[in-house]
Amino acid sequence: MNTIAKILIATFFIFSVAHAGPIEGKKKSILDESDIIYTGKHDIVKIYTSLALMEELQQRIVFFIEADINNDGRKVDKGLYVIIDNSTTKLLDSGKDISGDVTGKVYFATKDGIYTYNRKKNNAYKYGNMGESIVSLAVENNTGVVYALTENHVLYKITENGKKSDVDDRVKHAQEIVLDMFDNLYYYDENKKLFVVVGQDTKEVYGLPNNPTSLTLIKPFNGMEGIFVLANNEPYTVFSNCTSIKTESATLKQINLTAYSYDATVLIYFGHEKKIYEYNLVAKILTSVFERISESIKEKVTNFFA
Ligand SMILES: *[C@@H]1O[C@H](CO)[C@@H](O)[C@H](O)[C@H]1NC(C)=O
Ligand SMILES: *[C@@H]1O[C@H](CO)[C@@H](O)[C@H](O)[C@H]1NC(C)=O
Ligand SMILES: *[C@@H]1O[C@H](CO)[C@@H](O)[C@H](O)[C@H]1NC(C)=O
Ligand SMILES: *[C@@H]1O[C@H](CO)[C@@H](O)[C@H](O)[C@H]1NC(C)=O
Repeated sequence: MNTIAKILIATFFIFSVAHAGPIEGKKKSILDESDIIYTGKHDIVKIYTSLALMEELQQRIVFFIEADINNDGRKVDKGLYVIIDNSTTKLLDSGKDISGDVTGKVYFATKDGIYTYNRKKNNAYKYGNMGESIVSLAVENNTGVVYALTENHVLYKITENGKKSDVDDRVKHAQEIVLDMFDNLYYYDENKKLFVVVGQDTKEVYGLPNNPTSLTLIKPFNGMEGIFVLANNEPYTVFSNCTSIKTESATLKQINLTAYSYDATVLIYFGHEKKIYEYNLVAKILTSVFERISESIKEKVTNFFA
């Protein structure tokens, strides 16, 4: 099965379970104890997996960030880690975001600039010469271009292997940035309004709730144009033409996810209550969680695997 097919299944699964409606009969959590691969003392605020790295090294490789979340919603950094198979290594004390490209390069945003991952030494080293606190990172597919958003909401476009950084003034007051698979840039501002950067213009996305209390941007890895957005924990798909569509998802609401990653083929990683779960979709689809999906959807999924 090729990568794209597996990823499509992952996405399909999440949303189809959601469409199956409320759980009837046996009350069973979709998250099992046996799926836990890490238990920490702090919230898991970011999970990043690199499909290219996992395929190259044939190992489970999961990067994640821990933080405590204050009553005012501010995050206190508690470190950036990598899980390789069953062992967890702390790479950095400060971690604010993780991003990477399709070639397997992985970058970390920290309170003192950008770091990158050295897979041979299993450590992180400084990338480029920015010393500012970076809160959000986005990396183009395979051009080596990195976008870094500082704590003061200045967006830099970083090129030439980290040596060159230019202010990108198309973006104002951004709080978080993300690129889709076609390198379209999305961000939201202090009023949690979401924008798409198209050429020299920034355009507001319509169809999302006004003043959402929470907003999370998720880059899908299924080769599609656009991004996923969780607004008030409701999932939307947002396209670069500024439109958005809502997808009902009981699943996402039910388990209060703190962080998750879509891109690991049939494995999906969830952060929930200070734990990281590895959700093996093949195993789940074919066994327990399958019970929750309606017969017709079950049939479709089975056909997909045939
Ligand atoms: C990791 O731990 C699981 C469960 O204890 C075990 O089945 C698996 O073989 C371990 N993997 C490695 C690479 O050590
Ligand atoms: C980015 O990579 C993905 C996966 O390899 C591919 O589907 C997509 O077309 C690429 N986008 C661009 C702009 O190269
Ligand atoms: C916007 O893009 C999406 C995805 O390509 C497409 O389905 C939709 O019809 C487009 N909407 C408009 C108004 O062009
Ligand atoms: C999710 O969070 C809400 C509000 O914080 C809480 O009321 C609810 O019990 C939580 N649900 C689960 C399943 O943890």
